[in-house]
Amino acid sequence: MFWFDKHDSRVLFGDVRDEGFELCDGRRFEVRPDRLMDYRHLPFGDGAFRLVVFDPPHLKHAGENSYMARKYGILPESGWQAYLEKGFSECFRVLRPSGVLIFKWNETQIPLSQVLACTPEKPLFGNRQPKQTGTHWIVFMKGGDDNDEA
Ligand SMILES: C[S@@+](CC[C@H](N)C(=O)[O-])C[C@H]1O[C@@H](n2cnc3c(N)ncnc32)[C@H](O)[C@@H]1O
Repeated sequence: MFWFDKHDSRVLFGDVRDEGFELCDGRRFEVRPDRLMDYRHLPFGDGAFRLVVFDPPHLKHAGENSYMARKYGILPESGWQAYLEKGFSECFRVLRPSGVLIFKWNETQIPLSQVLACTPEKPLFGNRQPKQTGTHWIVFMKGGDDNDEA
């Protein structure tokens, strides 16, 4: 949903499901990853990526068949911390040294502070006032050859 180009050839899209269905307003909703994967067990070697985007489900309670749950997925109500800890751990494992993790979170049910406690890594920056500001963070990646180790 948040990608400017859903078929950007620079990106490997991953999700645990591949499906499409109709939303309550009649629009079609599609989750079509390039590769099926579980973020708790990523099928990649250590240090394989320079940039990882981690956008896990942010709800721990919603009816299993609710549109919110179907659209965004859901965390296990008991044990969501372990679920996210494993996800963070895997994201950082597949990042190369000094690689960048972009993490997206919505605080509807779980405060960001509790989620950041699921990883020992310290975040750099983010939108500190998501409810008050109309601020966007937009991420670019410079094009060109992959020959710069800096
Ligand atoms: C908030 S949505 C991501 C939306 C996506 N960033 C986009 O722009 O369309 C969270 C996604 O995580 C997926 N998910 C849930 N558990 C997962 C897991 N263990 N491994 C991989 N993906 C998972 C859900 O199926 C859901 O599609």
